[in-house]
Parts: sequence; structure tokens; C-alpha cells
Amino acid sequence: TKIYIPLDMAAVAMGADRLAVAVAKEAAARGQQVEIVRNGSRGMLWLEPLIEVETPAGRVGYGPAKVKDVASLFDAGFLTGGAHALNIGVVDEHPWMKRQNRVTFVRCGVIDPLSVPEYEAHDGFKGLKRAFEIGAPAVVEEVTKSGLRGRGGAGFPTGIKWKTVADCAPGQKYVVVNADEGDSGTFADRMIMEGDPLSLIEGMAICGYAVGASKGYVYLRSEYPVVVKVFQAAIEKAHEAGWLGKNIKGSGFDFDVELRIGAGAYVCGEETSLLESLEGKRGIVRAKPPLPAHVGLFGKPTVINNVLSMATVPMILEKGAKHYADLGVGRSRGTMPLQIAGNVKFGGLFETDFGIPLGVIVNDIAGGTRTGRPVKAVQVGGPLGAYVPVSLFDLPIDYEAFAAKDSLIGHGGLVVFDDTADMLWMARFGMEFCAIESCGKCTPCRIGSTRGVETIDKIRNGQDVEKNIELLKDLCHTMKFGSLCALGGFAPYPVESALRHFPEDFRKPALEAAE
Ligand code: NAI
Ligand code: SF4
Repeated sequence: TKIYIPLDMAAVAMGADRLAVAVAKEAAARGQQVEIVRNGSRGMLWLEPLIEVETPAGRVGYGPAKVKDVASLFDAGFLTGGAHALNIGVVDEHPWMKRQNRVTFVRCGVIDPLSVPEYEAHDGFKGLKRAFEIGAPAVVEEVTKSGLRGRGGAGFPTGIKWKTVADCAPGQKYVVVNADEGDSGTFADRMIMEGDPLSLIEGMAICGYAVGASKGYVYLRSEYPVVVKVFQAAIEKAHEAGWLGKNIKGSGFDFDVELRIGAGAYVCGEETSLLESLEGKRGIVRAKPPLPAHVGLFGKPTVINNVLSMATVPMILEKGAKHYADLGVGRSRGTMPLQIAGNVKFGGLFETDFGIPLGVIVNDIAGGTRTGRPVKAVQVGGPLGAYVPVSLFDLPIDYEAFAAKDSLIGHGGLVVFDDTADMLWMARFGMEFCAIESCGKCTPCRIGSTRGVETIDKIRNGQDVEKNIELLKDLCHTMKFGSLCALGGFAPYPVESALRHFPEDFRKPALEAAE
């Protein structure tokens, strides 16, 4: 019997490694033949570790399973899908899975991440094969037509970025993948690199072929040790199978991928700072222009894309641009892998077409707060994203709709807070985060964030509250429009949104002091 136990870091944190050992031992003791596959996570993180067993009816899930449950699972006949308190039924039939449209994550949790034959059996490398058939300019065209936009957060059209690099004079060019997933509440890059690493490798090869680059780098955050192991092994497997290296499958195209690990700075997720770090220098932001597309890694034309953008490309090539462009709303085409975290009943990864209202995700899919208290706000798009109040829960997941409300989708991270959250304190956290993570290159961010913390502390102490609120607004304006990169430029989002939607939290300390 085939049993799946995730190698995903979230599952491992909940004891998946110990569980895999215990299941193997128990099976041996009972003389039962089992094959344990370490798969990626299905994204239902509240069920981790989720064991899946292959049965004629489909893969039946048991979770969250602990070592102490192993004997009772065998007693209940779980190898044939037997009844047990942890049985969640056929995993693909679970409402959380059924309501999604898995495009980027279609294989994640399903296949053995390190099996090239399984990847191929699930449509893997079909995109690269088609790329070789249609030729480089048509690949760029296809990605442009799909409407895919940068999933790192900025939402810049991927095809236009590729064209900029493709149009540069031939010579050394690079493909760089930004896997420095630093936003709070985000884990989609990690999940794909642990659960379906070959899709990222294939996407990079397609990109390299399209723009004329023979070398790709993945810049990974140091906090992802499982990714290091899995992704490195995936690179080796791809080489062995002839999908990386010289003259890939007789196409005449050479491509190689190298994994590089950062040292824990949030700002190294900013593309120019990432390039500095990749070159072995301190992670300090470079002024743009020139764009990395023109002058990037080691001064050469470079495509930099987020993991999700790149991992979506194989499917676009395989199924055609139209298939992807038909999904979504407005200028937000395709799907968004949302990462639901914070104070929720059901947290995890939920991939869906653009256009779903925020409130549906929080109240319906995530089941509201874990504490059972009313939701107060959702921070969307990382620590520098805006706090969205319940009154805006009709807002659809759509880049433009969010921007129209001074908010952002960013990398798709949602962190939910209940009514006990103190939004003045959360505003302070935004400024403090910026002060700690600032690279120090420009004044509005380096000095402004520290002044921001001080000003908020004065408000918290009830000192000249109205005057200091005005000062804070003015400071936010300066940071927003005067900062060199998005770190300083976005720090005002959490502050201004807290002020706009929860003004009473800024006056409470003064009122309490007066009482
Ligand atoms: P940006 O708008 O300056 O650039 C977006 C991308 O398009 C860049 O790669 C840029 O080089 C490229 N680009 C712009 N104009 C171009 C042109 N004419 N031709 C070719 N390429 C062009 O945004 P930035 O500063 O790179 O990113 C900001 C975003 O990063 C924010 O929206 C934020 O949500 C996100 N972010 C994501 C994090 C994560 O963990 N994924 C962490 C922190 C921020
Ligand atoms: Fe550095 Fe902050 Fe300026 Fe960005 S905004 S360049 S992180 S000092």
C-alpha cells in the first residue's frame, strides 16, 4: 500500500518525520507491506501531519495524525481507508480542496516531489517541450497573452519583463528567482519548492530559453532548510533525466540552475538588493533605473521573477495562454494562491481565480477566527500591507480593486486579527519593522521609520495626540513618496490604514489617561 506523509516544513514542525518513522516501524511489526512517499502539503495546514492512503476509491486522508495514533490507525484498517476519528474521507473530495482551482499548485501534495517520471506523468515538462517547438519569440508572446503578472507582489506583467530581456543584445543573460519569501503569513513559495520543485525548474528553463539565458539562480531565504534539501535534490534529478544541462533533449539549448541561500534580511527580497547579495555584497538597494532587465546580475540583462510566477509558466505553455487568461477578473488574470494565516479556524493555502471577495475567504473558507471572537481586520500583503476592515469585506481579490482602496494584494498573504487587536500597536509594529529591516540607503526610510515609532509612542502615551497624529500623517506621506524602494515606501500602508479605519484606537490611550 502507498502511504503519503508530507515532508513539508509545516507538517514536519507538527511531527511528520517522527510519524513516518513510527508508521514504517508499525507496518514492519505487523508484517504489512507499505511504501511511504514523502509528498508536499495539500495546504490544509490545520490537518498536518496529514497521512494519505491510496485506496481504490481515491486517496483517503487521516489528520492531524500523531505518533500516538499510529497503532489505532492500523487497528482501524487505515491501509484500506478504514473508519477512524481522524479519517477526513477522500482528500480530493474535501470541501477545502473542491472549492479551489489548482493551477500553480495542481501537483503539490499529489506527486512525489523528487520523481521525474511522476512529474512527467502529471504533465510535467510538456511546457518546455512546447517551448522548444514554438521557438523563443512565441514563448514570450504566449506568456504576455496569458496575462500573468508578477506574483511577488508588484503585479508587473511577466511577458513584458521577459521581452525587455529578450530584446537586449545577445550575450550573457541571467534568470533569477526570488525565493526570499519574507512576508508575514506567506508560505506559497516554500510549499511549491518542497511539494513540486520541478515545476520551478521547468519554468526557469522555459524563461532561459525565451530570453536567451543559460544560467539561473534561485535566491532562497535561510529560514527554509527543508527547501534546501528538496530543491537541491530536484536539481540533481533534473540533470540525471536530461532536463537540465547541455543540449537539453537535443534542443541545442543549455541551461543550469544554482541554489543560493540568503542570510536573513527582509530587504534582500527587494530585487536589486537581492542581486547585490547574490553577487556576494551587502544587501543594499540599487537605484532604478537601470532596471535589472537591462543591467541586472553582474551587470547583465536579468529576468527576476517570484517563485509563483515562474512555477506557473509551465502550465501556461502546456495548456496555452488562453486557458489561463480565461480565468480571473479585470486585469487580474489567472489564479492567486492565497495564504491564510493568523487568527483563523482553518489556515493554509487556497488557490482560486481572482475575483473572490475577501470576506468569503475569511468567514467562509477560513471559518472565521479561531478564538470565536469577531474579526477586526485582515492584513493583506505582508507586514507592510494595509489593514482591511470588515466593512470592506466585499472587496474582490483583484490588484486594481485593492489599489483603489489604498491596499495591496502583494504576495497573497492574509493575516487575520480579532477584535482584541490594538491597531495603534499594529501601526507601531509596521514602523518598527521598517526601522529594523531598513537597508539605510535613503533618509525617509532610515530616519523616518524610527521617528515614526517615536511619534506613535507619544500618541500611546497620550501626549499631544492630535498634533502627533498630524505629524504621523505627514511623515507617512514623506516616506511613501520619498523612499527609494517599497520597504520605506510601503511602511505607511499599515499605519495609514489603521488610522483611517480604526481612528478610535489612536485616541483610546489619551481617553484612558484622562479618566
Ligand atoms: P516595481 O513596481 O518597482 O517593479 C516590479 C517589477 O517589474 C520589477 O521586477 C521591475 O524591475 C520590473 N519592471 C518595472 N518596469 C519595467 C519595464 N518597463 N520593463 C521591464 N521590467 C520592468 O516593484 P518592486 O519594488 O520590485 O516590488 C514591490 C512589491 O514587492 C510590493 O508590491 C510588495 O507587495 C512586494 N513584496 C513582496 C515580498 C515577498 O515576500 N514576496 C516582500 C516584500 C514586498
Ligand atoms: Fe533602503 Fe529603506 Fe531606502 Fe529601501 S526605502 S532603499 S530599504 S533605506
